Amino acid sequence: MNAKFYVTTPIYYVNDAPHIGHAYTTILADVLARFHRALGDDTFFLTGVDEHGQKVEQAAQKRGLTPQAHCDDLAPRFTSLWKKLGISNDDFIRTTQDRHKRIVQMILQKVYESGDIYQKEYEGLYSVAEERFITEKEAESGQFREVKTIKEKNYFFKMSKYQDRLIKYIEDHPNFLRPDHRRNEMLGFLRQPLTDLCISRPKARLSWGIEIPFDREYVTYVWFDALINYISAIGYGTDDAKFKRFWPGVHLIGKDILTTHSIYWTTMLFSLDLPLPETIFAHGWWLMGESKMSKSLGNVVRPLDLIEQHGVDAVRYYLMSEMILGQDANFTPENFIKRYNSDLANDFGNLLNRVSGLIGKNHGNVIPEAGTPTEAEAAIMAQGQILGKNVQALIADYKVDAAINEVMNLIRAVNKYMEMQAPWKLAKTDLPAAGRVLYTATEALRLAAVLLKAVMPDKAMIVLEILGAHDSGLTWGELKSGVTLPSFPPLFPRIELEKKT
Ligand code: MSP
Repeated sequence: MNAKFYVTTPIYYVNDAPHIGHAYTTILADVLARFHRALGDDTFFLTGVDEHGQKVEQAAQKRGLTPQAHCDDLAPRFTSLWKKLGISNDDFIRTTQDRHKRIVQMILQKVYESGDIYQKEYEGLYSVAEERFITEKEAESGQFREVKTIKEKNYFFKMSKYQDRLIKYIEDHPNFLRPDHRRNEMLGFLRQPLTDLCISRPKARLSWGIEIPFDREYVTYVWFDALINYISAIGYGTDDAKFKRFWPGVHLIGKDILTTHSIYWTTMLFSLDLPLPETIFAHGWWLMGESKMSKSLGNVVRPLDLIEQHGVDAVRYYLMSEMILGQDANFTPENFIKRYNSDLANDFGNLLNRVSGLIGKNHGNVIPEAGTPTEAEAAIMAQGQILGKNVQALIADYKVDAAINEVMNLIRAVNKYMEMQAPWKLAKTDLPAAGRVLYTATEALRLAAVLLKAVMPDKAMIVLEILGAHDSGLTWGELKSGVTLPSFPPLFPRIELEKKT
């Protein structure tokens, strides 16, 4: 029986157009979704945009637009970029959609009636930039901007009530918060007593939000609203069968939003009596030099520029292979070109060109017979035969970069094997032996293409079509001898550094 796989990205604020950081999480979710679909898993992939709250309201004001007009203008920039990046999401949620607002209000009402929401007057420090009340300690850290004292009546969610239960849950479920250092970070955070969460904003201060159903003077705090997207989109409260089919899911997030997911969201789910997410995986940041790539720092890389220069699949490949999942990575155009040239142009592209060139020259352009393997072929075959399983295990463990590297290791081994066997020389004395080498190399390319389909859907498909193997699988030997190779332009032309500088 196949498993199910429900994967989500954060819903992105629509205060500006998406950058590489946003594209990264979305491509990562796409790669995982594609892998799971290929395994036959019942897969659902959700992404979307976060449209309420102060940041969006301010961005709209700056542009002289109503918040809704601003959101309607910006949301398509995300959907159209995802389309360009080959993102295969099954749904795209906008938090201003009725289907979402209704569920947020239903949940607020439910939690209120259960006694987990109460009103109180509160005087405390508020960070306008972060849009939340902060503790004295946080204020002292100097990490919060635009801090002022605010005294106001608000609604609070009894987050503190669930602290012990949450600690126990995290301790009992090692795969729940990943990677491990993030799990430890959260357990450390939970050593301090949790405060309750302020989940309302008086309309007098902020009007752009979902109205609190039991007090129309208030709107919902943007995070309480946003986190609910993960269940409102899959039918919580409207389509029980769909909801049960997919929940709980896997949340991919950046490390900047770990607390909101592992503490706010989980305690909300406890209150609703729903299972917690299967996994919350926090990846690192893309840095530019020493600092995080972010709009406020003005150092963002626009995915569209990169796609235009190097093509979608090269961008997907670079982002997936360069960042070790869980750690920060540095984005530089030089790194991009270096990885592209070494992995795609040299290792993969050259092998394909070389093999097809030799098949053209010495074997009538027809994929030769596999022949009887010698020791050299057996070694490549052994590596190829376990590759699928190894890659699947790495993917199941969220090690996408390592999975890609495993595939490239086969390609590198085949490049060495080609050097050793020299089928261009062999062809002069023993044509079937030369054919055997070329069959083995071509089969390795086919297998690599099957496994790289999730990362580079277009290029991998082109390779498979060239080899007449577009619907082939992971078993070594599926490549058919006798297929005539078409002529094709180089798949990954080398990028010349001089031209870029
Ligand atoms: N709207 C909230 C999330 C709500 S989820 C219920 C939000 N949005 S955001 O637009 O700021 O996007 C945050 C996410 O974008 C990060 O968690 C991360 O996944 C991605 N990234 C944004 N900048 C990034 C980098 N520089 N590097 C890597 N990813 C980063 O927070």
